[in-house]
Parts: sequence; structure tokens; C-alpha cells
Amino acid sequence: MTMLAHEMKLQWTVLVLVLFMVLSKWQHCAAGDQMVPCYFIFGDSLADNGNNNKLQTLAKVDYAPYGVDFGSGPTGRFCNGLTIVDKIAEILGFHNYIPPFATAQEADMFYGLNYASGAAGIRDETGQELGERICLNMQLQNHQKTVQNLIGMLGNDSALRYLNKCLYSVGMGNNDYLNNYFLPQYFPTSQEYTLEKYTQLLIEQYSQQLKVSPLNSIFRISLYELGARKLVVFGLGKIGCVPGAIATYGTNGSACVELLNNASRLFNSMLLPDIDQLNDDLPDAKIIYINNYKIGEDSTVLDFKVNNTACCPSSAIGQCIPDQTPCQNRSQYMFWDSFHPTEIFNIFYAERSYSALDPSDAYPYDIRQLISLDQGVAEAM
Ligand SMILES: *[C@@H]1O[C@H](CO)[C@@H](O)[C@H](O)[C@H]1NC(C)=O
Ligand SMILES: *[C@@H]1O[C@H](CO)[C@@H](O)[C@H](O)[C@H]1NC(C)=O
Ligand SMILES: *[C@@H]1O[C@H](CO)[C@@H](O)[C@H](O)[C@H]1NC(C)=O
Ligand SMILES: *[C@@H]1O[C@H](CO)[C@@H](O)[C@H](O)[C@H]1NC(C)=O
Ligand SMILES: *[C@@H]1O[C@H](CO)[C@@H](O)[C@H](O)[C@H]1NC(C)=O
Repeated sequence: MTMLAHEMKLQWTVLVLVLFMVLSKWQHCAAGDQMVPCYFIFGDSLADNGNNNKLQTLAKVDYAPYGVDFGSGPTGRFCNGLTIVDKIAEILGFHNYIPPFATAQEADMFYGLNYASGAAGIRDETGQELGERICLNMQLQNHQKTVQNLIGMLGNDSALRYLNKCLYSVGMGNNDYLNNYFLPQYFPTSQEYTLEKYTQLLIEQYSQQLKVSPLNSIFRISLYELGARKLVVFGLGKIGCVPGAIATYGTNGSACVELLNNASRLFNSMLLPDIDQLNDDLPDAKIIYINNYKIGEDSTVLDFKVNNTACCPSSAIGQCIPDQTPCQNRSQYMFWDSFHPTEIFNIFYAERSYSALDPSDAYPYDIRQLISLDQGVAEAM
């Protein structure tokens, strides 16, 4: 680079920085107390807010009655209203919900992006019987593009310092069971592996995606290597209690599909020591685990009797049938469609993840504590 070019690049960087400081100041005023500068979201249909809308897939919900309780109507959220990550963004003081990567403007990346995709999994093939989806590896690649964009604008050091201060959350694994292992008509995994072995492979792959990439593959990148230092990992809930699973597998006299709940518990029990390991291996990062399984069991503390069937009339694949009238009072239902919770439960999960009511809700601590930790990262800019 010539001296002149170098200087011009410097000036450009300074200009962008100033603009950025102004922007973040403004955002600060507008949003009141925004607790983190940015929030990046990875996940499946529990967090997707429109990334699947333009994909060729059955797993998309950009039609009524989805969004019946959301200001702007159907958005691609698999819910009547807010998702868990929407509510977390709201609690964190963000002025807007974190936008979907698929349709975000360039400036949105300063506040965070949502890469989540319905039917997606830790494994690349998960969910393929439904069509296109953005698996976790592809979500990481999309984030890598964002990081490169940010580096292009701010320079390497400022960009990384900035990325270090963001909050990150990942919720994956549901589909690796529901749309892979337990669909033997489409996937061979249950013939190839015992449930234990399969779960162990899932956890190994997951922790690489969070922590460190296998040798030399540009397609395998990790969140840590992309600058993440404050990471929330959501465990699996009781996937055996969702109406769609009960309808498909039957309960053999129990309240839920035991085998599926056992898979969730196995996944969580293998994930937990991994969280400890990640925290040990990456001393400059803080990673927490949210115990959705346990929080879900406590939802009876909501002071009303809820109906645990789906609120909207659902199709064979468990999504609301387009334009059918949903239940009148969504607050009395645990499930919106045959697989996804209603907004009121998402809010309940989000509030408990942010501020644990019981010590076992979050490990080793909750989101509130995670974001309050100073990790010795220099004040960026
Ligand atoms: C950016 O900086 C980090 C640490 O400061 C370094 O490890 C990395 O190689 C740099 N990347 C580029 C593309 O210069
Ligand atoms: C169903 O329950 C009965 C009695 O509890 C048990 O013997 C049987 O193995 C169960 N079947 C399945 C498929 O889990
Ligand atoms: C689920 O796990 C429980 C407790 O470990 C066990 O007793 C039960 O047999 C398991 N059920 C199935 C269907 O795997
Ligand atoms: C739940 O709602 C369905 C209709 O959506 C109704 O048939 C059922 O009786 C309700 N169950 C309870 C326990 O209220
Ligand atoms: C909806 O249900 C909740 C919980 O039972 C109740 O508090 C609320 O009054 C109901 N709303 C309407 C409009 O019926």
C-alpha cells in the first residue's frame, strides 16, 4: 500500500469511527440503557425471525395467523408474538429487535444480527427432508461475512474489540433429534449410532463450532475465533412434550414421549461438562448454559391453568394451517403451533434466562451476570 493510500484508508477509518460513535450515542439515548452494544443470534425455529422466508422449504411461516400478536403481523417468527431472543433483546434495552441476516441493512451489523433458521441443526443434513435451511456451519459462515465487513470498515483491531463486547446466543440441537435421529424414514443416523453415541458426536461437533476449528478448513469456523467472548448456550427443553411429537410418536401412557425427553436430558447432561471445558480452555471468554428443561418444568408457576394443546389448527408437519383462526386467548396456551411455544412462554423463558429465579436455571450464572462481567477488554473506541 502506498503512503497516500494508507493515509486515505486511515482517514476513512476515522470518519467511519466518528459516524459510528455518533450513531451509538444516538442509539444510547433512543434506547435508554442498552446494556450491550450488540447481540448476535444463532439458532433454529425457536429464534428464526425471517431467514427462511426466501428459502425453498416447508419450514417457513411468513403467513397468518403467525404474528397475530406481533405489531407488524407475520414476519417468519414461528410464534404468535415474540420469540425468546426478541424478549432478551428487549430486556437488554435494544430499541429494535435484532434483524434477520437475510434482509438486514449493512448498518444493522453494529447492533447485531439474527442468523437463526427453522429446521436447522448442528449437523449439516438435519432438516433436509423439509427443504433448504441454514445449518449452524452456514450460520457461522454468514457471521464470518459480517465480521469481514466490520473489519473492512473499522480495521482489524477495532472490529475485534467491538465483537468482543457483544453478546452471543446459540440454541441448537432440537432438530438433530426431531428432524434427523428420530426420523428413520429419512435419516440413517439411528441405524448407524446408539442414542448415546449420536449425542456424543453432536456435542463434539457443537463444541468445535463454538470454540475451535478443525485444521485448515475455511468452511469450519468457530464463534470464538470470530471474536465472541460472551456466549449464551441454550440447552434443550422437553421435546417429548410438544403436541407434534406426542401426535407422531404416542406417549405409551405417559404424559410425554419419554424417549424424546430422555434424548434432551442426555444432550444437556453431555453439554454441561463441555461448558466447563470451554470456560477452562478459553479463559478470556465466558460461556453460560441455560437450563430450558428445568425452566419449562417450572412454568406451572405461571398463575393460571394452561392448555397444552396447540393454539392454532396445525398441518401434518405441525405448523399452523394458513389463515385459520387461532385460539382466542393465547395466554391460556403453552403451544402456539404443534412445535413452538406461545409468546407468553417465550417471555417466561427469556426472563428466567436473564435473571435466574432458581440457581439451576442458568449455569454457572445468568445473562444478567454474564453481561455485567468486565473481561478486561479495553474500552473500544
Ligand atoms: C487480526 O488481529 C488478530 C489479533 O489482533 C490476529 O490474530 C489476526 O490474524 C488479524 N487478522 C487479520 C486478517 O489481519
Ligand atoms: C410401553 O409401556 C409398557 C408398560 O409401561 C412397556 O412394557 C413397553 O415397553 C412400552 N413400550 C414402548 C414402545 O416404550
Ligand atoms: C427414559 O429414561 C428413564 C430414566 O432414565 C428410564 O427409566 C426410561 O426407561 C427411559 N425411557 C425410554 C423410553 O427410553
Ligand atoms: C384445550 O383446548 C382444546 C381446543 O383447543 C379443547 O378441546 C380442550 O378441551 C382444552 N383442554 C383443556 C384442559 O382445557
Ligand atoms: C386470557 O387468559 C388469561 C389467563 O387465564 C386471563 O388472565 C385473561 O383475562 C384472559 N384474557 C381474556 C381477554 O379473556
